[in-house]
Amino acid sequence: MATHKAAVLRSFSSPLSIEMVPTLEAVPGSAIVRVLATAVVPYARKVYSGNIALTSSSLPLPLVPGVGCIGRVATVGPDATSLQPGQLVFCEPTIRSRDNPANQILIGHSAGFAPDAKKLMEGEWRNGTLAEMVKMPLENLFALNEDVLLGKLGLEMKHLTYIQVLAVPLGGLLEAGVGPGTSVVIAPATGKFGGAAVAVALALGARVIAAGRNTAALEKLTALYGNTMLATVVLSGDVAEDTEKLKEANGGSPFDVFQDWCPMTVAAGDPTPSLIASCIAALRHEGTASLMGGIRGDISISYSMVMHRNLKIRGKFMYEREDVLKLLKLIEHGNLKLGGGVGSGMDIAGVFSLDEMDEALLLAAEKKGWGGSVVVCP
Ligand SMILES: NC(=O)c1ccc[n+]([C@@H]2O[C@H](COP(=O)([O-])OP(=O)(O)OC[C@H]3O[C@@H](n4cnc5c(N)ncnc54)[C@H](OP(=O)(O)O)[C@@H]3O)[C@@H](O)[C@H]2O)c1
Repeated sequence: MATHKAAVLRSFSSPLSIEMVPTLEAVPGSAIVRVLATAVVPYARKVYSGNIALTSSSLPLPLVPGVGCIGRVATVGPDATSLQPGQLVFCEPTIRSRDNPANQILIGHSAGFAPDAKKLMEGEWRNGTLAEMVKMPLENLFALNEDVLLGKLGLEMKHLTYIQVLAVPLGGLLEAGVGPGTSVVIAPATGKFGGAAVAVALALGARVIAAGRNTAALEKLTALYGNTMLATVVLSGDVAEDTEKLKEANGGSPFDVFQDWCPMTVAAGDPTPSLIASCIAALRHEGTASLMGGIRGDISISYSMVMHRNLKIRGKFMYEREDVLKLLKLIEHGNLKLGGGVGSGMDIAGVFSLDEMDEALLLAAEKKGWGGSVVVCP
């Protein structure tokens, strides 16, 4: 039986163990991919020690964690019509049930929020990308243009892992109609996804107002992207004052879209987070609030304001397949730059092997927030 190396989570009270595990066969609807580079989420250590639950139920164990990767197709199922062994691919981690796409999980990461979704993770799509090989649904694989990405643009595998992060804000921005001639507030804009959202919204041609409490990180955004299409606002927590500051940053006008990236801590004990209240209050008539953060409890917003101003409040989990295809074009065409320096704002904080998982998890936790990314190359 063929085997490969993987990081296996056997219990929440012991570290990942590096083991040889059976390599699965590519059955209809799937491919086996050799993992080349996968990013480690900052809170991975907390998830693997049972200190954060990313779902309504805990992860089934044993499990190979790891969410999304860049890899090379090893074998394809008999019904693959386009993908070929050897092809460089982005493995997109959102697994949607084929008989009910509302049931979705993140492979190797989250068993989802719909009770029936967990079944996907218990069997067929249990194991993620912290391994030399991963089995993926065919529809989750996106062929990458190697000549452009690695050749013309000079990127490396580690840089391509940022595709996963950029795809998430793109999903919500496209759904909310963000594009040339629109204005969008990203808040908080200083975290991993908020910072990525700024890069994506600018690449889409929007006027971007990056808001948050972290002055130094907002200044870094201005240093990176300039102030032609980007303005920053340091939020004080006073809703009326912040609402005016946001509009001022948009030339005195209310803006079209607010994309929210509040982590769960923002609403702890506060049903009306000031950040959300001020960003919604500064929306124009018919404006859209795209809620993409991680608040677990309930928040309260002004019913009257939403009704009288015809506001649209939308939630968005991840993105759609066509969003990923658009993202790849934005990157290949040079609208959205990967790599360090002027570009996406992403820097590689460290690259590790599977045998160095403990170090990778520690550095990922240390580098939480916008900018630093930790990559494992199995
Ligand atoms: N919709 C989806 O599909 C999707 C996908 C991925 C992630 N998410 C969610 O997105 C959320 C953000 O993730 P992330 O990785 O970007 O988090 P992160 O890197 O930890 O960033 C957190 C951000 O929130 C800010 N913040 C923290 N506490 C705050 C407070 N009390 N008031 C104002 N700002 C505060 C931080 O600002 P400072 O710089 O000031 O600390 C930072 O900008 C997570 O909760 C996650 O669950 C959703």
